[in-house]
Amino acid sequence: MRNYWYVAADAAKLTTKPLARQILGEPLVLFRDATGKAAVLADRCPHRNVQLSGGCVVDGKLRCPYHGWEFNGEGACVHIPSLAGSDAIPSNAKAPTYPVVEQDGYVWVWVGEESPGDRQPFKLPHRNEPGWQNARMESVIPNAVDNCIENFIDCPHTGYVHGGLFRTPASHMARTQVRMVADGVVIDIDEENQADSLLAKLLVRKGDRVTHQDRFILPSIVQVAYGFGPDKAITGFQICTPEEEYVTRIYVYLTWKMGWLTGLMKPFMPHVGKVVLDQDMGVLVNQGQMIKRFGANFTSAPADTANLWIQAVRQRAAKGGEPGPEREKQVDFRL
Ligand code: FES
Ligand SMILES: [Fe+2]
Repeated sequence: MRNYWYVAADAAKLTTKPLARQILGEPLVLFRDATGKAAVLADRCPHRNVQLSGGCVVDGKLRCPYHGWEFNGEGACVHIPSLAGSDAIPSNAKAPTYPVVEQDGYVWVWVGEESPGDRQPFKLPHRNEPGWQNARMESVIPNAVDNCIENFIDCPHTGYVHGGLFRTPASHMARTQVRMVADGVVIDIDEENQADSLLAKLLVRKGDRVTHQDRFILPSIVQVAYGFGPDKAITGFQICTPEEEYVTRIYVYLTWKMGWLTGLMKPFMPHVGKVVLDQDMGVLVNQGQMIKRFGANFTSAPADTANLWIQAVRQRAAKGGEPGPEREKQVDFRL
């Protein structure tokens, strides 16, 4: 699934030092050029193939740690310290570059063989929007991207892995409507009883409805949206970047509108997000180890329907197939 935009870094973390990252096994080095623009090169010096990310940035140029060759944001070598006065820089002294877009506080990179053309990175909502706040977190999970996506969108684990934070183990019915759409899968979850959720207890006024919609967006973004009555909402995005087969970097973007609580929640939300992410990390690390040793050999129940559809959408997209017709299914299970 190379022909998509992936987040390579939180833009705030790209400062004066080069940053080593990977997308789908491709080693990348990110740095800011002389104009402050994010640049992404293959992390492999064209001279003797040492990783450029081990070097430093000098006046907006990336200096290789081995012989000090320097590269600009276009990947061109602009300085070779060992050259005698009249010798020219070899014309092939160039590191491959990748398309990059800085958007919504993230550095998005394209490692696909096709050109991105007019395709844009996914747009994150409610940044700098009055009445809304946001927070972000980042984590590296030693498991395959498919298993991470599944975990983030999966409801039946929440009562077990996240204990009383969301809900208690299987206590009530949930009716879900699963829809396959052009860019992914949408799941509307209607829970019989939201009263055992700690969040709901804190946030819902009597008579207000709690709404819950999950969404998978190609290639690997999970959106979890809760509404609490007409004017309060929390939406979390887990933007997954497959670094290697069993390494996935997760960028979490949380955004919320909670009336007078909105600003007060700002310092706490990263901690809440981290607690949840660390709980998921426990099972995901273990699952990754087991799959590495014994392969994936899954058995599914009806509550896994959405995830099976997500797998189908991803597999079709990986083969470059066009999105299929919309389909929809009602799935009931206990939560
Ligand atoms: S390997 Fe990079 S300058 Fe020699
Ligand atoms: Fe979870």
